[in-house]
Amino acid sequence: MVQAEVNALKSKTVEFIYLSQEECIEAGGLDMKGTLQAIQKSYELHGQKDVVQPSKPVIRWGGPETEETRGRIMTMPSYLGGDLHVAGMKWIPSMPQNPKNLGQPRASAIIILTDPDNGFPLAIMDGTIVSAMRTGAATGIAAKYLANPNSETVGIIGAGVQSRTQLMAIVNAMPNVQHIKVFDLNAEKTQAFAEEMTAELQVKVVPAASAEEAIRESDIVVTATMSTFPYVKYEWLKEGAFHSEISFWDTAPEEVQYYDRIIVDDYDHVEHHGVDVSYRAVAAGLVKREEVSNLSDIMLGNAPGRTNEKEKIIFNPIGMSIHDVSEAYRVYQNAKKLGIGNSLPLWKHPHWS
Ligand SMILES: NC(=O)c1ccc[n+]([C@@H]2O[C@H](COP(=O)([O-])OP(=O)(O)OC[C@H]3O[C@@H](n4cnc5c(N)ncnc54)[C@H](O)[C@@H]3O)[C@@H](O)[C@H]2O)c1
Repeated sequence: MVQAEVNALKSKTVEFIYLSQEECIEAGGLDMKGTLQAIQKSYELHGQKDVVQPSKPVIRWGGPETEETRGRIMTMPSYLGGDLHVAGMKWIPSMPQNPKNLGQPRASAIIILTDPDNGFPLAIMDGTIVSAMRTGAATGIAAKYLANPNSETVGIIGAGVQSRTQLMAIVNAMPNVQHIKVFDLNAEKTQAFAEEMTAELQVKVVPAASAEEAIRESDIVVTATMSTFPYVKYEWLKEGAFHSEISFWDTAPEEVQYYDRIIVDDYDHVEHHGVDVSYRAVAAGLVKREEVSNLSDIMLGNAPGRTNEKEKIIFNPIGMSIHDVSEAYRVYQNAKKLGIGNSLPLWKHPHWS
């Protein structure tokens, strides 16, 4: 083949990089400081309305309550503007029986990043680490804006994958945090979590005998479980507590109505999903729609945040695609810089053009 033909062929090649989970980690996927920056940025663009984020379609095999038993698959696309200017999508199945039956995580995800100028893929990558890290960081950022700044104690309910990144982010975002209690229905997981996180984060994590014990006296509370029933009582929360409920059924709408403030990441998305407790409290007429604020509005000063140190505030994020894409793009850019990942052709020459 003559050189001109080789060059013509090359110029038509479309390539993207593939990043396995191990390669995402090698490219800084577990760097919580970096994740917090990526999530802060995506919240800011959200508040500036410089994002495009359609509501996520959910595939499930029954009603909302079956997500915790039978499972679901979510599809989460978005575009971020500003200096990020990138589009992408997360495809994330949640299979509740995987930990018990297969010794595998509940959730596994794939993320596609796309160049919005030509529509070609930049990367196809594991999204499992990105997804867990961004969920932790969403709580970390919320704690920075909504928890009392001198918070020292944390109560975590659930000792699964998400609780790990929740704690990583809180410890990074809240410098005074030093005493953590954890409770999971599975005592072995509770113990393992306490030991692993104490070693990893150099803070003291101890098992609690009940959810109530972990929640009482905690300045920051996280509920991150696969619970199918409500168990949190508003009166367990101490004055001034900040509570991040990332799962769905832990706190009943009847308890949520008593919180001084209810904050979400994007209420339109919460409403579309129709499962989160902030939505169920509004739908049941226990909370007025206008009593629920988006975090990005508080960050940009368009809605009031904490107004005094005694308020009990609940943050109930549904999880946004813009967080996934922003964090995935951070990891992708690191990977490109460090030469990590395999280049794969979408095509060498388009069959039709
Ligand atoms: N809002 C978001 O952005 C977002 C993002 C990711 C995950 N999530 C949610 O976070 C939750 C946790 O996910 P995960 O990946 O850590 O799951 P996981 O299966 O790894 O862990 C869940 C843990 O909850 C424990 N548990 C179940 N019921 C309990 C109860 N009543 N009290 C105490 N512990 C209980 C289980 O024993 C298990 O250890 C899920 O509901 C998931 O949908 C939310």
